[in-house]
Amino acid sequence: MKKLNMLVNTLDKKSHINPEIYGHFSEHLGRCIYKGIYVGENSPIPNTNGIRNDVIEAFKQIKMPVLRWPGGCFADEYHWRDGIGEKSSRPKMVNTHWGGVTEDNSFGTHEFFDFCEMVGCEPYLAGNLGSGTVEELADWIEYITFDGISPMADLRRKNGREKPWKLKYLGIGNENWGCGGNMRPEYYADEYRRYQTYCRNFSGNELFKVACGPNSDDYNWTEKLLDIVKDWHTNAISLHYYTVPSGDWSKKGSATDFTDEEYYKTISSTLYMDKLIKKHAAIISRYSDKIKLIVDEWGCWYDVEEGTNPGFLFQQNTMRDAIVAACNLNIFNEHSDIVCMANLAQAVNVLQALLLTEGEKLVKTPTYYVFDMFKTHQNNDLVYSFAGNSEINGIPMLSQTASVSADGKLTLTLANCSLDEDIEISCRISGISPKSVSARILTNEVHSCNTFDAPENVKPEDYSAELSGDMLKLTVPKCSVVSLIVE
Ligand code: AHR
Repeated sequence: MKKLNMLVNTLDKKSHINPEIYGHFSEHLGRCIYKGIYVGENSPIPNTNGIRNDVIEAFKQIKMPVLRWPGGCFADEYHWRDGIGEKSSRPKMVNTHWGGVTEDNSFGTHEFFDFCEMVGCEPYLAGNLGSGTVEELADWIEYITFDGISPMADLRRKNGREKPWKLKYLGIGNENWGCGGNMRPEYYADEYRRYQTYCRNFSGNELFKVACGPNSDDYNWTEKLLDIVKDWHTNAISLHYYTVPSGDWSKKGSATDFTDEEYYKTISSTLYMDKLIKKHAAIISRYSDKIKLIVDEWGCWYDVEEGTNPGFLFQQNTMRDAIVAACNLNIFNEHSDIVCMANLAQAVNVLQALLLTEGEKLVKTPTYYVFDMFKTHQNNDLVYSFAGNSEINGIPMLSQTASVSADGKLTLTLANCSLDEDIEISCRISGISPKSVSARILTNEVHSCNTFDAPENVKPEDYSAELSGDMLKLTVPKCSVVSLIVE
């Protein structure tokens, strides 16, 4: 048993934790949209306007704040006009990035915005800069947000939506250094300036414009982009970083069958997120004190499950992924001065998914439960916390953050990354007079996962922590995530 002392000072507020840090991502990829989120109105699976009811409920439960759509790489091939109007006459297309399957466009703009309304989350659109036109993107914004008489607003009304929707978050292109057009930063930056000019603020709607930022540690991209884009053109830049256990994309490894060494490599790779944010933030600060960072793709990327379509990126999700999720969410909280949104890839049936579906069955993954346990950080202020940490296989054993809500409740989230040793924590809390504590724990053997036959194998449970005066004492078992609310 490792003994660690901690200190939390609720009066030392650092930055506001934007709820969107707990955001998600849904792409027309594999079974994320079709069969995952959308089953169609005629499906025997319980649905509302074609959207699975169980998915809506699961997303509401974790207070999903924002959902990115329609991609990913798919976004720069997506033509929004194909996804409106009578479904039977919507044109079909080939989803060239993801399995070469036929996309029938039955899930389009109206379905996505209705879905966000049902969940109660902000929509975040990724616009097509790679293969689209300025006019096409400008028209999409007019279609969605214009309240008056105009060709696009009239078309929206003809398709059944009288009132415009609100759209805040708009990404202008996706991975334009790669699948979004293989551009050089200078070329993309000029294109970005042109495209964003015509993305107007209609009818009181105010866009928050996101430029395509770097692929992990491509600091040159950030530098060149900001040099040209400047901060009066953009509110944020994106960052994409995936955790690949070995760091080698040709040998990513199995989601469920891994050694202890591979586990520690995974955690070490995921903690690299902290360094990436710090270094990109340092570059941003040289250009602007207004531009934010949006980590709009993150999570673990393993080999696909045996027997599944390699283009569908379907993988299982274990306690290892829960530890990865907890570490990243703690990192995002810690950097909430610059990180205003993050989007796990992806919401259903793809990569480090929240939910897995098979016919009418639905499984909540260990990662899902981490979002449920961390949700009370949303809209809080990050406060000072310090843990006398200890190293294990080159990584810190404990990951932690603390935040307070407007009404003074403290949320503390902890992950013990060790596979062998429990941690006994003694935490002094200053700034409030704590009266009660409630805790939850998610723990199991590191390879454990939820399956369609055993859907509740990994699930949070109530946990106990001892409060005496301003001292909080608890054990954080090996390979566990613990969340506490102190009032
Ligand atoms: O999330 C899967 C893919 O990863 C996205 O489509 C793309 O943006 C990234 O390369």
